[in-house]
Amino acid sequence: MGSACSCGDPVSSKTSKANSCEDISSTLDLSIGKVLGKGAFSEVRLAEDAQGNKFALKCIKLSSIRHFIHVLRREVKILQDLYHPAIVRFYNACEDCEFFYIKTELIDGQSLKEMIRSSGPLPEDLVRKIGYYVLLALVYLHDRDICHRDLKPEHILITSNQNIKLIDFGLARMVEETIYGTVVGTPNYMAPEMWQGKYNKKCDIWSLGVTLYFALTAKQPFNDENMHDIMTNCIRRDINFDSLSTDSRICIEKMLIKNHRKRATAKKLLEENWFKELNSLI
Ligand SMILES: Nc1ncnc2c1ncn2[C@@H]1O[C@H](COP(=O)(O)OP(=O)(O)OP(=O)(O)O)[C@@H](O)[C@H]1O
Ligand SMILES: [Mg+2]
Repeated sequence: MGSACSCGDPVSSKTSKANSCEDISSTLDLSIGKVLGKGAFSEVRLAEDAQGNKFALKCIKLSSIRHFIHVLRREVKILQDLYHPAIVRFYNACEDCEFFYIKTELIDGQSLKEMIRSSGPLPEDLVRKIGYYVLLALVYLHDRDICHRDLKPEHILITSNQNIKLIDFGLARMVEETIYGTVVGTPNYMAPEMWQGKYNKKCDIWSLGVTLYFALTAKQPFNDENMHDIMTNCIRRDINFDSLSTDSRICIEKMLIKNHRKRATAKKLLEENWFKELNSLI
């Protein structure tokens, strides 16, 4: 098959006449299957190579991101060095004149968001396991000064045998110390200090706290109508933890400490009583 870009090497730039995600099979030497999910600017498709190996292929239309190609390159640069069982495995990336493609491990499962949407509050054992594996992933990332910056239920995938994987490093960046950075993320999951544009890796811990609270209760701690109310309430309002078990409450409360200097690190949180059983298994 004559391929303009075989997606075999890390980011290469070549041209082709692909006009839609459907056309890309000839461009990439992959056959393209169903849509696995959609993001704001991308479509993630099932893809299969000639040997029958399956992948996930994120296809981002270049015209929709125009001046933000550097953000995609940053996503690839960060992803390509990550090897962790709870983080999606990156294979390679390439682009043609229409699309930027990111080829990763296929995670055959559901997102945490889909699970909560279809089942409501999830069993505590499952939520504990999700919290534990995402914390392991965060220890790995934070030790490397990588901040995910968009941790939320859509970005946690769970397979049928309960493997937990963190995905979407589109907003990830290197953060060594506290930075004065762009205010980014998804409002409901953004830490108080993120709204103020001065934050560090601890913003991921806050987002995980909101995610786990949501998974246990199917309620958002700051479920407000508009962005301004979400922001002011996340900065000022106390969260109601009444429906949580003692151990989950103690742990999630430590993730949702408003002052990020006092908020626990991922490493410290793994020592919590809530994770005692899981720690003894590993
Ligand atoms: N490796 C994968 N295996 C299976 N499904 C995946 C995979 N990666 C992504 N998906 C599905 O596609 C959806 C969108 O993926 P992702 O969040 O990476 O896209 P995005 O365009 O970056 O989204 P955003 O709007 O957050 O920028 C996910 O919620 C998930 O359902
Ligand atoms: Mg996403």
